[in-house]
Amino acid sequence: MSGSFSCKTDIANPTGNTSLDALVTADPGRRKILKDGAALGLFATPTLQLLVGCTGTSLPTTIAIPTIGGFSRISASTADRVRVPTGYQAQVLYRWGDPIGAQGVPANTPAFLHDASNTAAEQALQAGMHHDGMHFFPMHDYTDAAPRGLLVVNHEYTDDGLLHVGGMNNWSAAKVAKSQASHGVSVVEALLEGGEWRVQRPSRYARRITANTPMRISGPVARSAMVKTADDASGTFALGTFANCAHGFTPWGTYLACEENWHGYFSQTTALSDHEKRYGLSATGAGYRWWEFDPRFDVTKNPNEPNRFGWVVEIDPFDPDSLPVKRTAMGRFKHESAMQSIARDGRVVFYMGDDEKFEYVYKFVTRDKWNANDAKANRDLLDHGTLFVARFDDDGSGRWIALQHGTGPLTTANGFASQADVLVRTRQAADALAATKMDRPEWIAVHPQSKEVYCSLTNNVERGTAGKPGTNAANPRAGNAFGHIIRWREKNQDPAATSFDWDMFALAGNGDNSGKGGNISGDLLGSPDGLWFDSHGRLWIETDVSTKELNKDDYGIMGNNQLLVADTNTRDVKRFLTGPAGCEITGITSTPDGRHLFVNIQHPGETPSERSDPAKPMNISSWPDGPQGSRPRSATIVIRREDGGVVGT
Ligand code: FEO
Ligand code: CA
Ligand code: CA
Ligand code: CA
Repeated sequence: MSGSFSCKTDIANPTGNTSLDALVTADPGRRKILKDGAALGLFATPTLQLLVGCTGTSLPTTIAIPTIGGFSRISASTADRVRVPTGYQAQVLYRWGDPIGAQGVPANTPAFLHDASNTAAEQALQAGMHHDGMHFFPMHDYTDAAPRGLLVVNHEYTDDGLLHVGGMNNWSAAKVAKSQASHGVSVVEALLEGGEWRVQRPSRYARRITANTPMRISGPVARSAMVKTADDASGTFALGTFANCAHGFTPWGTYLACEENWHGYFSQTTALSDHEKRYGLSATGAGYRWWEFDPRFDVTKNPNEPNRFGWVVEIDPFDPDSLPVKRTAMGRFKHESAMQSIARDGRVVFYMGDDEKFEYVYKFVTRDKWNANDAKANRDLLDHGTLFVARFDDDGSGRWIALQHGTGPLTTANGFASQADVLVRTRQAADALAATKMDRPEWIAVHPQSKEVYCSLTNNVERGTAGKPGTNAANPRAGNAFGHIIRWREKNQDPAATSFDWDMFALAGNGDNSGKGGNISGDLLGSPDGLWFDSHGRLWIETDVSTKELNKDDYGIMGNNQLLVADTNTRDVKRFLTGPAGCEITGITSTPDGRHLFVNIQHPGETPSERSDPAKPMNISSWPDGPQGSRPRSATIVIRREDGGVVGT
């Protein structure tokens, strides 16, 4: 999500820390290593061989350089359809409003009603709106010949102009309930049968998690006064999750739904505290108007309710009766995703971005190792560990700084009462630690062999403007309209390390905002958002140029949002897919054999206002059902090679 209702808010991190302020001590030794590394080509072609040779790790001594494939690159396009290269096909699998296959209801119901007259109760048994992050979990009997798995999909937000008969006219409790039922997460069972993918209906696993699903609060913040409410004096049970943008998954088979722009659902009409300001609460939020009929979202009446959002939520898709759990040890911010990597000693590391202008990159390192032999032994692994925030120094080195109560400035004397307080106010704690303000951290991906980490900084037009933070080496462009992708390598190739070296992988757009230069070759892109490595080490990049900017002069050559593949050695980028009009491309996962690629098409037909005109819902797009069909619908698609080969090769 990118527009004014969500990621692209005008709230800026007001603190003064920059990447090289007085707290930073330049380290000449580090500079030398970096300089020597650059001379050796550590961050250039051919990266992987040198890396492995230098570190002497247990990694294989030779890693094949991934290629970005034999597919024919496709042109940019403004066509209202999904385009893929010759020799590929894309099938629509799971659209907004499709029944999930819940047990106990008549077969294939409730059916989607094309005039948007489904009720909230029906919507709670159908795919939600605005598909985003997603993961495919193979079933226990999965085979490459007969693939079957659980597809878990985030439904980030709603276009209420499209969701209801008459849009937001005659706003009502019923419309609020339907909006809440359209948010959250889907778990559906999907399988290939007769050459086509389909959703299994009914399935004992089929499940919708919405803004009202009971869930547990666990970790250091559970039971603290900051999350106790009139409805939950224990501070351990919350209702629902929403604004679930990107996602994560764990090695023990659970899904992580991340809460991003949750602040936009609340109304706070009394004077804002510093904490509330820092997280962007306001009187009108992002226009969802839930508080008009659901007092839970009126902060004046329920001051602690917002503190129960902004977390990572763990969901066990294989246990449909399990309560989702808000894992507070992983910090509270506007979580984009939580990408795992395994430390050398078996602890689990999650990389996470806080997607807003001038916000930070974090990682969480579990206290304990994960147990590969007993999934249940990992049940509370995410409740104990250390949260770190990143500092990217201008010399190409970086540090992970722990958000630990009692350490450094995070003391009671400085106004942080406890570790729970540090976590509820993660952003303020990170401010105190002089972390580096980034250009909207979105997805993070980890190279499957080298463990090198890539992070999308989608854009930040306020960078370097009057009264805002200036450029730094990690965010080098003032008025950054196109975004960039940064990458780093942890010390000793250990994801749990507290220092790293970084470099700039891609400056998106035509090099810089004046159209000169550029460090990638091949096809142009703007606003990188989704990032994903396939098992062969190809980097897939999904774009989210906002509807306000799409196809403007600067972006005109780029057409609709797109999916591209990058060679991380050569920086060659190749366009693989273009989406329908007004959409963003997000969500990406595959079957283990790489032959079936799942991608989400979010908000086809979106207008710059992010609210459709209910009288003309098909004004911009009628994808995927076509002009004879209905309003545009976000959907999961499956892409395959017609010859059955691995996608992207
Ligand atoms: Fe919902 Fe940061 O994209
Ligand atoms: Ca968007
Ligand atoms: Ca985005
Ligand atoms: Ca995103």
